Amino acid sequence: MTDILLVDDEKSVRTTLSLMLKRVGYQVEEAMNGEKALEILKNKFFDLVITDLKMEPIDGMEVLRKVKSAYDTTEVMVMTAFSTVESGVEAMKLGAYDYIQKPFDKDEFLILVKKAIERRELINEVEQLQDELREKYRFENIIGNSNRMMEVLALVSKVAKTDSTVLISGDSGTGKELIAKATHLNSRRKNRAFITINCGALPENLQESELFGHVRGAFTGAIKDKRGLFQEANGGTLFLDEIGETALSTQVKLLRFLQDGEIRRVGENEPLYVDVRLIAATNQDLKKLIEEGRFREDLYYRLNVIPIDLPPLRDRRDDIPLLADHFLKTYQERTKKSNPSISPEAMKCLMQYDWPGNVRELENVIERALILASKNVILPEDLPSSILSNEQQPIIEEPEMLVGGGQTLEVLEKKHILMTLDKCVWNQKKASEILGISTTTLWRKLKLYGIEPKRKEESIAG
Ligand SMILES: Nc1ncnc2c1ncn2[C@@H]1O[C@H](COP(=O)(O)OP(=O)(O)OP(=O)(O)O)[C@@H](O)[C@H]1O
Ligand SMILES: [Mg+2]
Repeated sequence: MTDILLVDDEKSVRTTLSLMLKRVGYQVEEAMNGEKALEILKNKFFDLVITDLKMEPIDGMEVLRKVKSAYDTTEVMVMTAFSTVESGVEAMKLGAYDYIQKPFDKDEFLILVKKAIERRELINEVEQLQDELREKYRFENIIGNSNRMMEVLALVSKVAKTDSTVLISGDSGTGKELIAKATHLNSRRKNRAFITINCGALPENLQESELFGHVRGAFTGAIKDKRGLFQEANGGTLFLDEIGETALSTQVKLLRFLQDGEIRRVGENEPLYVDVRLIAATNQDLKKLIEEGRFREDLYYRLNVIPIDLPPLRDRRDDIPLLADHFLKTYQERTKKSNPSISPEAMKCLMQYDWPGNVRELENVIERALILASKNVILPEDLPSSILSNEQQPIIEEPEMLVGGGQTLEVLEKKHILMTLDKCVWNQKKASEILGISTTTLWRKLKLYGIEPKRKEESIAG
């Protein structure tokens, strides 16, 4: 059923239009001025509001403004008798679907109404589909069945709905960034920006201007105004990674934002107000940093409104097979293996290992093993020797094993390329020099073996 609210101070107009609309099947309610309209809107949802502009005490423009700010899934159509085109245009700028000038033709009016409602229905449908998809894939990329992870996810879905500051702590590679993104995607801010800044990657003197922006002339080199990440994140979420690395001077400014919602660009005294949700992450013990005088206690308490602790992988070993399987699927295409699997012996190694680099280390190990495996099954010999349990350790050291290990040339070549790349931190030019081949040949071989060039160090923002 489609509900329309008709607002006009002339009774005859209301009666005529109302009759017209009812005849084609709409439900219509009438209001004699803006004030009455707002009263009715408080208690009932309408698909469309059709309002006259000139009314007392509250005019049509005001009704439009109110509807667009408080009931943004309602369409508004504006009509006026003495319309200058400008007021119609202004109404559209404020979000009206369209405007129509009185006197108007009955058919023209009905077509406009029909289009406004169709548009609204379409938008609603798309939004509903998006929500359904999101619900379904909410945590789709977060793997974990252990009790510890379930608790974490339950907490995430609860806090995502709030605007509270979240502090995520956990060792390197436990999934802090993943959880931060999931929190954003499950919040009302999901369609707005999610901005990441790695505080550890920024020298102290750049932190403030990166976060809060600066005005021209604020310091040498500030040749023009610059927006900070707080402004970029307005309406959305700002993720402060490695918060323990922020300078004390930056901490003062973060505290001010958390207390008053205001930021100041470097070189400017006027505060700016932004609507930003903060999520912070750390793999350090902030309590210890506080004792050492490197982190402000007051900021810690402001940030730590909702703490989320990510357990190390060795404390949730149940998740290892699931994660391993997930990464097999992720990398199978790239490494040109179909339906790869992990042999029981190799799985045993994965389960026993302590994973100091947590999920990220597991991910790397699986990717590398897939490249090395000569068939579709990952065997213990495809795993790094550090992971093999004692009884599976090769007796001979690796380089000799490579020569005498009875492995195919292809496997040897792959291992050698990977080792060389690791040694020169994935600098392909250097590696090709050591290997005595051109960079093009190296490139071809990487492609052939499905070896993805490792990404450069994460950029500071983004
Ligand atoms: N539960 C999980 N399910 C699937 N993938 C995961 C999970 N946890 C972590 N990962 C993956 O592991 C890698 C590391 O995760 P992430 O970058 O979120 O960790 P981090 O805690 O931020 O690490 P660091 O402290 O080193 O920055 C990413 O590729 C991420 O997608
Ligand atoms: Mg991280």
